[in-house]
Order: sequence, then C-alpha cells, then structure tokens
Amino acid sequence: MDWGLKNRLSNIIKPQDNRALMLAVDHGYFLGPTEKLENPRKVIAPLLKYCDSLMVTRGIQRTSVPATTSTPMVLRVSGGSSIIGEDLSQEDITVSIQDAIRLNASAVAMSIFVGSKYEHQTIVNLGKLVNKAEKYGIPVLAVTAVGKELGKDSRYLSLACRIAAEQGAHIVKTYYCDNFEKVVQSCPVPIIVAGGKKIPERDALQLTYDSIKGGAVGVDMGRNIWQSEHPVAMIKAVRSIVHGNSNVDQAYDLYKQFINEDPKKKQKSSKPNPSKPKKPNPSKK
Ligand code: R5P
Repeated sequence: MDWGLKNRLSNIIKPQDNRALMLAVDHGYFLGPTEKLENPRKVIAPLLKYCDSLMVTRGIQRTSVPATTSTPMVLRVSGGSSIIGEDLSQEDITVSIQDAIRLNASAVAMSIFVGSKYEHQTIVNLGKLVNKAEKYGIPVLAVTAVGKELGKDSRYLSLACRIAAEQGAHIVKTYYCDNFEKVVQSCPVPIIVAGGKKIPERDALQLTYDSIKGGAVGVDMGRNIWQSEHPVAMIKAVRSIVHGNSNVDQAYDLYKQFINEDPKKKQKSSKPNPSKPKKPNPSKK
C-alpha cells in the first residue's frame, strides 16, 4: 500500500485501536432535507469533534463544514436518483477525482446495488473509481446499499461485501445482521456498519456494540445520532463503545449522564418557570 493511501486510511480507521467512528450526514443526496438534517451546518458543528471522520457530499462539505476543521472527510461521489424517482439503484459517479482532491478527501465513497436492476453499472463504476482514486492514493469506501426487495441477511450481505472488496474497495460499509461474523470473515477488507433508521438510543448502542463484537472496525452512524433528542450525548456514548470498550449498559449510563451535563439542559433548568407560582420570600417584607 502506498504511503498516501495508508496515511489517509489511518485518518479514518484509527491505528491506535483499529476502530472508526464515522458520522454520516450524506443522506440529502437522495432524500433531500431529511428530518432533523434540514440545516446540516447546525447539526454538524457540535458533533464534528466527537467523530473520527465525516461522511459528506461535496455540496454539504463546501457549505456546512468549516474549512478549518481537522476532521477527515469521506466524500460521497455517487448519486443520480431520488427517493421519489423511478429506481434508487440507478446511480453514477457524479464527482471527479480532481474535485475530491480539491476537497482534501481522506476517502471517496459510492454505493453498489448488488442484485438490483443497475447492479452492473454500479459495480463497474466501483472498479473505475478504484482505478482513479488509487492513482492519487485515495481510499475507496463502497456502500452495499440494500434495495427494498433484498433482505439484510448474512448471505446477501456477504455477497455484496465480497464483491465490493474484489473490485478493490478499501473499506466496505454494510448493515448489521444475524450471523454478522460470517459477513466479516468472508470480506478481506475492514467493514464499517451503517446505523440505519432511528431506533431507541439503547438499541442503537446495542447495534454499535454487536457490530464491534462481530468484527466491524466501527460504525458510520447518522440518524441514530442527529435524530436523537440529545445528539452530543449520543455520539459520546457511541464513542465510548467504539474507542472506550464500554458495554451497552455502561454506554447507556454515560448517555444519561451526558444529557445531564448538557449546558442547554442546565440553562433550561436554571431559567424561572413562568407557569410555576413564585414562593413567597420570607426575608422580603
Ligand atoms: C445513506 O444515505 C448513507 O450511506 C448513510 O451514510 C448511511 O446509511 C449511514 O447513515 P444512517 O446511520 O442514518 O443509516
């Protein structure tokens, strides 16, 4: 592996513990202004220092991430369909490698849709992206996107992850599933787990824990962080599992503790409550 490629990869998967916490904010590329990600700048600002890397599109990177940040960027370079369009799997590469370099991307990311109508197109695009990115020492993260009709089972995900790795992806993002260890064992490159739809905080912490235990290097979590009532507390709790080896109970206790430490909450509780009648002050006459 070339020095540049190794160096960029080590920005994403931390060499100290071989773990990664990626914050996903790229949803708008096909979902538009997703709930609670309507204003990405506001969402990203308080969370940026707690993630190892940010998964982002170039539009959001340029408009909503301060260029002074030291957090590495994982740049989504695929797109071309929308949630209301004909077929979500009809994606192409939409960002040039030159633009990824201008944006100082630590990795480029794209989705492949194994088993879908556009399987061929997306897998060939992955191979082509690896050709271009490797020329400049930029790692490629392949996202094994799952179509509506395809289940998130270990047989399917093993197939999709292995195909991504065979095409030369350096990291594969996939979903957690039963027998997840099998998916990891048959994929020769590191696997990172996508958070998926919003679930209760404790369940999302369980997913993080199970993913790591099953052999993933970490999680790329979006909705379960920024759709939480307490995004900072949540990312810190997830971090305690990824990098601090907390178990689920410990992480959930930390989550509750972090909520209480939240300055916003303190501010709220120190404000007088206008609906409460004032107690008479005996010292005042
Ligand atoms: C999908 O739009 C992206 O690949 C997301 O980055 C990925 O699904 C992770 O985000 P979430 O945890 O919200 O599923």
